[in-house]
Amino acid sequence: MSLNYGRHLMAIPGPSVIPDRVLNAMHQPSPNIYEGALVDLTHSLYPDLQTVARTKAEVAIYIANGHGAWEAAITNTLSRGDKVLVLGTGRFAIGWGEWGRTTGIEPTVINFGMSDPADPAKLEAALQADTAHEYKAVFVTQTDTASSVKNDIPALRKAIDASGHPALFMVDCIASLGCERFEMDEWGVDLMVSGCQKGLMTPPGLSFIFANERALEARKSADLATSYWDWVPRFNPEGIYQNFAGTSPTHHLFGLREALNMLVYEEGVEAAWARQKLFARAIWAAIEAWGANGGDLKLNVSDPANRSRAVTCILTSNGNGTRIRNWCEEVAGLTLGIGLGAAVKGSPEWHNNFRIGHMGHLNVPMVMGILGTIDSALKALDISHGDGALNAASQIISEV
Ligand SMILES: Cc1ncc(COP(=O)(O)O)c(C=O)c1O
Repeated sequence: MSLNYGRHLMAIPGPSVIPDRVLNAMHQPSPNIYEGALVDLTHSLYPDLQTVARTKAEVAIYIANGHGAWEAAITNTLSRGDKVLVLGTGRFAIGWGEWGRTTGIEPTVINFGMSDPADPAKLEAALQADTAHEYKAVFVTQTDTASSVKNDIPALRKAIDASGHPALFMVDCIASLGCERFEMDEWGVDLMVSGCQKGLMTPPGLSFIFANERALEARKSADLATSYWDWVPRFNPEGIYQNFAGTSPTHHLFGLREALNMLVYEEGVEAAWARQKLFARAIWAAIEAWGANGGDLKLNVSDPANRSRAVTCILTSNGNGTRIRNWCEEVAGLTLGIGLGAAVKGSPEWHNNFRIGHMGHLNVPMVMGILGTIDSALKALDISHGDGALNAASQIISEV
């Protein structure tokens, strides 16, 4: 029997749930792209993106997904043969470094595994050992979406400073912007990349680069820049056509405007962080309850301080991750995130992991609905689990 007849709920870690208001804002005829309301709307986005990232750094908007922003970050700051130090805490910083190989940069990975954050002491030691200052940049994710590990960005900055090394500090906030506290200027981040499709609640297709003075300086000697990715004309456009190196992504801009209205002017960025934190704690409490007394569910990241508030990776055994996901999707109308644990689709580990995306446009019935659906799946599939998960989650939510 299928129960899948209401509104389908996506709880994958991006794209996230798109608010109806954002969809409706996009539902309009093509505008004039050269002058008038769309130009004003475009200019209004930049200061609001700076507000979300807590920065006065320059912002460029690319018509691209996160991989595009990765490439823009690399090509605007680095040169062929440059070495970069990658702090691996799952999959995505490693992916960023690998993405750069075809441009000619040489990534070196310090791998902290799939469940632990980057260790600032190891970063400091690696930079101290690089007396010739061959590393031109350090790449890290604030949240690694595969593992749901959260890195301590201020602590990593302190480690770079303590080493006296001049490498640029480049942070991927694709899965965390708008969901986790992020203070680009206060924390001394030189360059940050993000995307619109997770905490910013807009359909995939826009990504962002935030570059401070040090990153802008690096552009002057970077020899990898190409016409499309070059940020110089985007930061100093002669006309709106240069903001996007061509035609504006008109309807994405309408959508992003509405999403930023909601995040910046209605809820407020700090309130969104607090909501994300409460929901994350509720989800962790439920998983801990399911895992009690020999239950077959476990949080991938043991220390709450190192857990993302936007995505949670859950470990199971015997392929139960895939069984739970399939039941939730087919019988109940809830799509959960696939496991990326073993990095190779099809391996046994992959079938044991699944992820809950809990970023952006979420309220209590959505969070409790996700947890209630998983609870039903565990019972329907006869997967061993502890009791009281929903009670544990609602207890946390009642703290509001
Ligand atoms: C942390 C992180 N970085 C980079 C990416 C790549 O972004 P995209 O898939 O939009 O190219 C993702 C996608 O999930 C991500 O979560």
